[in-house]
Parts: sequence; C-alpha cells; structure tokens
Amino acid sequence: MDRIRIRGGRPLKGTIAISGAKNAALPLMTASLLADEPLVLEHLPALADITTLAHLLALLGVESTEIANGEAGRTLSFHARHIAETTAPYDLVRKMRASILVLGPLLARRGSARVSLPGGCAIGTRPVDLHLKAMQAFGAEVELAGGYVEARAPRGLRGAHIVFPKISVGATENALMAAVLARGESLIENAAREPEIADLGRCLAAMGARIEGIGTETLRVQGVDRLHGARHSVVADRIEAGSYAIAAAITGGDVELIGARLDLMGAVAEMLGEAGLAIDETPRGIRVRRAGGRVLGVDVMTEPFPGFPTDLQAQIMALMTTCEGASMVTESIFENRFMHVPELVRMGASINLHGASAMVRGVKTLKGAPVMATDLRASVSLVLAGLAAEGETVISRVYHLDRGYDGLEAKLSACGADIERLRD
Ligand code: UD1
Repeated sequence: MDRIRIRGGRPLKGTIAISGAKNAALPLMTASLLADEPLVLEHLPALADITTLAHLLALLGVESTEIANGEAGRTLSFHARHIAETTAPYDLVRKMRASILVLGPLLARRGSARVSLPGGCAIGTRPVDLHLKAMQAFGAEVELAGGYVEARAPRGLRGAHIVFPKISVGATENALMAAVLARGESLIENAAREPEIADLGRCLAAMGARIEGIGTETLRVQGVDRLHGARHSVVADRIEAGSYAIAAAITGGDVELIGARLDLMGAVAEMLGEAGLAIDETPRGIRVRRAGGRVLGVDVMTEPFPGFPTDLQAQIMALMTTCEGASMVTESIFENRFMHVPELVRMGASINLHGASAMVRGVKTLKGAPVMATDLRASVSLVLAGLAAEGETVISRVYHLDRGYDGLEAKLSACGADIERLRD
C-alpha cells in the first residue's frame, strides 16, 4: 500500500487550482439516470470515488464517454438511454456510501430499485432511514431483504410533502431527484442547503425540472413527465479549498486558491478570520495567509451548511494543535469522527477528548512521526500536520486520500512542500 512522506516546516507559497467538488459530482452523476439523453458534466475531479460510481452506473446501463481531460478537470458524458439493471450490488456500494444516491433516480425513472445497504463505515453507523422514509412518502413500497433495500413503485411516484426530522445531505438529494419526475407537486422542508445540493438543483433545472427554492431549506417541485439532456459544470470543492487554506495557515504560507469561492465557504472563512488569517477575494479565487504571528485558538462546532462543515473538522483540529492558546472542537454531525486524534497526539499535539468535544491546547511545534490514515478527512489532517511538523512524517493507508483529493502531492509540491508518494 502506498505511503506519503512529508518533510515539514516549509511555508507553502504559490497557487493551487481547486477541483470540482466530489460531493457535488457524485449526485450529479446519478442524476444522469433520470433522462434518456446525455448529461455532460464538466470540471469533474479525478478521484477514486468518481471511478467507483461510474462503474456502478455502467452496470445499470449508463454509458460514460470522456469528452475532454485538461487543466479544468475532466468532461464526461453520461447517457442512460436504457436502464438495463436496477440493482446496486454490495460489492460496489460498500466501497462508497454515496451509491445510495441511485435510489431516488432509479425509482423515479424505472419504478423499482434494489440497493445494497451501505453498512457501517469508519465514522459511525450512518443510517439511511431518512432516504427510505422519503421514498415511502413518494408512494414507493420499501422492504429490507438480504442486506438490500428493495423499493417498488409500479405506478410511478406521486408528489409528496416531506418534512425531514433531521437535516441530511444525501436524503435531500435523493428526495429532490425523486420529486422531479413524481406526478404533481412536492414540498421538501428542512432540506439540507449545502452548495452541492444547490448545484444539483441547478443541473436538474437545466434538464427541464421545475424547482423553486434552490439553495434554501424549502424546495417546491412540480413534477414533469421527462427530463432532457444538459451540460453542467461541477461547482468548486469548498472542502478542498478549505483544506488548502488551512495548509497555508498551518505552514505560515501565502497561497492563492484558484477557482475557490468565498461565498460558498460559510462559517469556514469566518472561523479562519478569527484564527488570525487574512482571507481575500482575488479576481481568480481566494488568497489566504497569516495576518500576524501564530494562529489563534478558536472554538469550532460542526453544523449543517452554512455552519462549519464536519468534512473540515479534522483539518481545523490539525491547525489548532499549534495555535496560541486553546480550542474546543465539537463534532455534532457524526459519532466517532475523531480517529485523527491519537495520530495527531503521536505528532506531539495536546488533545483531550470529552464525548463529542476535543480540547486542543496549542503546542509550539509538532514533530514528524509515522502515522496512519483512517478515513478521507482524517488523512488530510495528518498531511497538514506533517507539513507543519519538524522532521519527517510518513502516512500509511493513503488510499483514503485518493478518494477525495485530486492531485494532492502535485498541488502541494508546486507550492514548495516536500511531499512524495512512496509506492510499495
Ligand atoms: C454527506 C457528504 C459527507 C458529509 C455529510 C455531512 C456526500 C457524498 N457526502 O454525507 O461528505 O460529511 O454529508 O455534511 O455528499 N442520517 C440519519 N439517517 C439518514 C441519513 C443521515 O440519521 O437516513 C444522519 C447521519 O448519520 C448524520 C447526519 O444525518 O449524523 C447527516 O448525514 P448526511 O447529511 O445524510 O450525510 P451524507 O449525505 O451521508
């Protein structure tokens, strides 16, 4: 298994191009199931999760063709002329939970879907009950059998009024994709408002869907008989941008994030500002650098958008390990999302866990160490810590990083980081 070696202590300086968002690309790809004409997606990131989902879609009958592959990411066409198969098998779903996003589109287009239950994952149990209840509200019969969700709506879906008891990104996306082809009007309340969902809403609208309230917590949808093909560019990855902003901060560097959008950063920009960073919009993106000396300790709690994202919790914690003062980092979205803590402690961080909160006391410097990546965002937090640490850090199990960070080593080395992949 590949490892990454970092020799820390070099301030990052230069520019980093931000890729298209993984969490937008995945639902957009499954939206191609809704139409019998091609959906062309531009600015797709080159990531393992994208390949896994393309395999799953191919199995269902979606033809994907590469149209371009350049600096602005990849452009692929997804064409679901006939849906040959409506089963998403365990072997693919267990690799990536987001496979559950085929449920709504398959039900809406074909009236049936059989999707393996994702099962547990490293960051907690992550149930799918909200997805299933939403499909039932649209009139689908849902059963669980042999580890699979079996959903049927032989006479098609009908519009529904859904009030989510809890905010869920994936369940909102599944509900939205079901609603666009359901008969009549649907109202989805307490919807998640992440920019990736707004991106999906815009793409569906370009395919002929009638949606009001895109980007808000209330989505009103008038179902249509069919959707047509469209061309859509995937929104910039705000989590990747936030991760590299933190890389600039933790190394005391000065980086311009090309294509990053401040308006999509929500509480992240505010928090980083309070921690003593200067964050400025430039004609091409965002420039991040330390305004003064050491980074200041700030308290952070993860929340649904526009709150601070759970997908940046591990990274901000890495930054806080070297802050002036102390910081309380609270995780309110997922249980068991602190696997990076013992690894950061191995690098000299002072962190105490109390339930869902981590008390981080800033230390002057981190020290390089061999550490192990456990999930996608935990892995990148170790990269960030390694960039700031004295000496050498070797991170094992880096396949997690390849799921979410397109060209990580190349992007960081171009800004002066001493980082290299060791292939075994
Ligand atoms: C998405 C993101 C993931 C991010 C998360 C929270 C994608 C592909 N993934 O995941 O990177 O960390 O949003 O911003 O976009 N829940 C239930 N029942 C359900 C569904 C969710 O109880 O049926 C709970 C979850 O366990 C969690 C919370 O709701 O505690 C939020 O999860 P959700 O927003 O659904 O996350 P995902 O869509 O899986």
